[in-house]
Amino acid sequence: MSRFEIVGRSVRSGASVPFDSEEWSEAAGGSKDAVARRSIPAPEIPIPQQGKLGQLAYLPAWFIGARFMGKTNPLQTVLFVSNHCNLACKHCDASTHSNTMSKSYDQIREELEYSYSIGSRFVDFEGGEPTIWHDGHYGINDLISLARNIGFFSTTVTTNAQLPFDGLEATSIWVSLDGTREYHDQIRGAGTFDRALKNIAASGHKAVSVNMTINCINKDCVEDLAHMVAENPHIKSISFSFHTPYPGTEHMMLPWDQREQVLDKIIAMKKAGVPIMNSVSGLELMKTNDFPKDCWVCNFILTDGTRLSECPGKTVGICDQCGFGMGAEMRSVFQFKPDTILAGLDLRVS
Ligand SMILES: C[S@@+](CC[C@H](N)C(=O)[O-])C[C@H]1O[C@@H](n2cnc3c(N)ncnc32)[C@H](O)[C@@H]1O
Ligand code: SF4
Repeated sequence: MSRFEIVGRSVRSGASVPFDSEEWSEAAGGSKDAVARRSIPAPEIPIPQQGKLGQLAYLPAWFIGARFMGKTNPLQTVLFVSNHCNLACKHCDASTHSNTMSKSYDQIREELEYSYSIGSRFVDFEGGEPTIWHDGHYGINDLISLARNIGFFSTTVTTNAQLPFDGLEATSIWVSLDGTREYHDQIRGAGTFDRALKNIAASGHKAVSVNMTINCINKDCVEDLAHMVAENPHIKSISFSFHTPYPGTEHMMLPWDQREQVLDKIIAMKKAGVPIMNSVSGLELMKTNDFPKDCWVCNFILTDGTRLSECPGKTVGICDQCGFGMGAEMRSVFQFKPDTILAGLDLRVS
């Protein structure tokens, strides 16, 4: 097998990572140019930053404003950087991997400044595949330092982990694992599971967690994956969401009775000490999805630049079929469920 030795495969600045050419062309959809680029310092942004004390004070102030004063400022931003992707997963809306739109660094800076100005303090970079985003010499690490300079308390990147991500400077990293090897590869493509596990182990990052999106293909391996995660020293925890039926992917949704059975298994594992990020209160709410939604806690900025004050699922009209764990967790926070508040602090306060 020939190996590329020159082009950096890592998001680390300038790092050159040996990578099988066959693996690369498969993982990158044949585009060697799609690699995350050299990191260069972000310009200073003239927005005053909050120190650690200010950050600690911000969360209770935000909560009191939201819970008792009717304020609806977002706390978190989900920012889609492009729809370029090196995979084409079965469950993913085709528009998110059509490789037609990628934002410029300046556009993302404006979007971050806007989100910060309306109250958001946490940002999750999404795609497409965010680790392959680039604009000239700017790569994903430049967006992370940009967000920090603006004043965001922490940054998250959600990735399919098909490229090495050692050197990725996000506060926390979510790797999407949609099952044990057989199931994950069925959804995401042959070899994607082993590649993701290899890159997780090599990353050296202290806060790598995984997210499993449960659907009608992978529903039977939930427990096996959770136990595998528990035994993996490189993975901190696992979170669970269910497939949300965006147009064209409705057939992947798990029927409600099966969803409830899976949730009971997850709750039992959580109570037995398996490192599951979702709280028991949030998991219970997910069984029926019958609760008032507080999804304004996140603002979303889509790949085409559309700025939404709530999840895109609301625009599509599928809130009643939502599978995202976040909605239930937010509801539990506002109901003062202590297990959810502790889970949220563990996730957000390092
Ligand atoms: C759209 S991907 C983008 C980031 C990256 N490419 C990845 O796969 O992790 C973000 C997350 O959304 C999940 N996802 C995609 N389509 C979904 C759907 N219809 N319902 C619920 N989750 C979905 C993916 O499994 C992944 O965990
Ligand atoms: S889930 Fe992520 S990796 Fe898979 S096609 Fe969608 S954006 Fe790409």
